[in-house]
Amino acid sequence: MESHCSRIVATFSVFFSVILVIPYSITASTPCEFPAIFNFGDSNSDTGGLSAAFGQAPPPNGESYFHTPAGRYSDGRLVIDFIAESLGLPYLSAYLDSVGSNFTHGANFATAGSTIRPQNTTLSQSGFSPFSLNVQFYQYNDFHQRSQKVRGPGGVFQGLLPKAEDFSRALYTFDIGQNDLTAGYFLNMSTDQVKEYIPDVLSQFTNVIKNIYSQGGRSFWIHNTGPVGCLPYVMDRVLITTGQVDSAGCASPFNEVAQYFNQKLKEAVVQLRMDLPLAAITYVDAYSLKYSLISQAKKHGFEHPLRACCGHGGKYNYNIHLGCGGKINVNGKQVLVGKSCQDPSVRINWDGVHYTQAANKWVFDRIVDGSFSDPPIPLKMACHKQAAH
Ligand SMILES: *[C@@H]1O[C@H](CO)[C@@H](O)[C@H](O)[C@H]1NC(C)=O
Ligand SMILES: *[C@@H]1O[C@H](CO)[C@@H](O)[C@H](O)[C@H]1NC(C)=O
Ligand SMILES: *[C@@H]1O[C@H](CO)[C@@H](O)[C@H](O)[C@H]1NC(C)=O
Repeated sequence: MESHCSRIVATFSVFFSVILVIPYSITASTPCEFPAIFNFGDSNSDTGGLSAAFGQAPPPNGESYFHTPAGRYSDGRLVIDFIAESLGLPYLSAYLDSVGSNFTHGANFATAGSTIRPQNTTLSQSGFSPFSLNVQFYQYNDFHQRSQKVRGPGGVFQGLLPKAEDFSRALYTFDIGQNDLTAGYFLNMSTDQVKEYIPDVLSQFTNVIKNIYSQGGRSFWIHNTGPVGCLPYVMDRVLITTGQVDSAGCASPFNEVAQYFNQKLKEAVVQLRMDLPLAAITYVDAYSLKYSLISQAKKHGFEHPLRACCGHGGKYNYNIHLGCGGKINVNGKQVLVGKSCQDPSVRINWDGVHYTQAANKWVFDRIVDGSFSDPPIPLKMACHKQAAH
């Protein structure tokens, strides 16, 4: 009797654990099928925003893939393009681009030069975009509300704008913060002064995530900021004294600030997970990958990690006054500042500020499976809330 009874209990508990476990493992292993991507960021993920507002990125941008400028500051695709491709979605149209855009599967609010905090300066004064993250959120909000009013009656806009339900099922991607760090340095602030304002930058960042969540956004994919101290436009512009250059040739104070920002960003993400219980938030360590790529370029099949492929002069083939696609006067003739490297597919830095398509692909290939994420879940699972470490 007793053994029969315990067998029933055992059977019952096996049965019970099966029904408890199986639904969970099904949801956790089912790809998300994101119907759309909404992206927020700077030039690292700008697919045409700044170009639409301030004039096209000039050739030879775009030449390796699009064979013409395509609103991107690179010779080809960006990480966000590879993300869209891998989710089976078209490349994102820039929200600001009114020519030929199709927002059925999302929109891109990123523009080159964007910061999280509003800068109080114009593009021509400081080089920072007026479309800071708060503005990108206003644009998203406007897009969300008005697209549904316009789409409702039917007609042509049904094939150009997302469905109402796609906003909560979409993937929300972020790659922004680098320019908030350089903004202080370009104003001659000390490292301590830059560090001091990082909490304010991150509180403005988390406000935007919370606002999107309150509009139904649930899946967030957040890239941390890269090793800005390895980029020619920083190394060229800011006085670097001896002892501030690491073994890879990068300016260590700037990378330390980037890592400090990332540590605080990660803490902010942990807090967001507590504040937004229904959100699945993935933190992606792009910094480590980019630093590994630059510091061990040869091992990864790349060369001259600190030299711009498209640029002119100096130690880094970079000159702030003669940027990629600019014009210089040689013996009375206008000459384009073009590609000076033979093969961009083995180069990391495109124009002194941005990465090549090859570098972007290399980074994407290593983030897509989740091995550089917290929690370590693949991109296509990023709608599933999981225990983070
Ligand atoms: C811009 O100005 C406002 C108002 O004076 C100020 O609160 C804010 O900190 C300024 N932004 C930056 C990045 O300095
Ligand atoms: C926009 O893109 C979607 C999906 O790629 C497509 O089905 C739709 O026909 C496109 N709209 C127009 C007007 O071409
Ligand atoms: C920063 O310092 C440099 C060198 O002293 C100076 O030329 C530049 O005008 C300063 N920039 C600002 C924004 O104060």
